[in-house]
Amino acid sequence: MDGEASALSGADHDGWAPLSGFKADADSFPQRARLLGEGIIIFRTKNGFRGVERACPHMKATMMEGELTANDSMLRCPLHVFTFRLSDGKGVNCPGFRLRVFEIREDAGQFLARPVS
Ligand code: FES
Repeated sequence: MDGEASALSGADHDGWAPLSGFKADADSFPQRARLLGEGIIIFRTKNGFRGVERACPHMKATMMEGELTANDSMLRCPLHVFTFRLSDGKGVNCPGFRLRVFEIREDAGQFLARPVS
């Protein structure tokens, strides 16, 4: 049953699915990409690539304008300065808000992503 659901969604049984439209060697970040038909935004951090949902969970500002902070461990929305941990998306100055975050890995030249929150 799990396999069936995964096949339908395009993700493997661990939740990884191929990213499309992502250029890891691009000069400019953040960068838009698609994961299972959903647009996400990818940041290049000191700890590797990290994806986030396109819009801030507060009032939907684009996270393309998000700023990496705290040694690249957090992302700050510039509109009202809500700040989210890139480890799990939890808001650090905005209780109850959570940003969807995606981990990213490379497998045989293909970049894959899956949600962590
Ligand atoms: S829209 Fe992002 S903090 Fe308000």
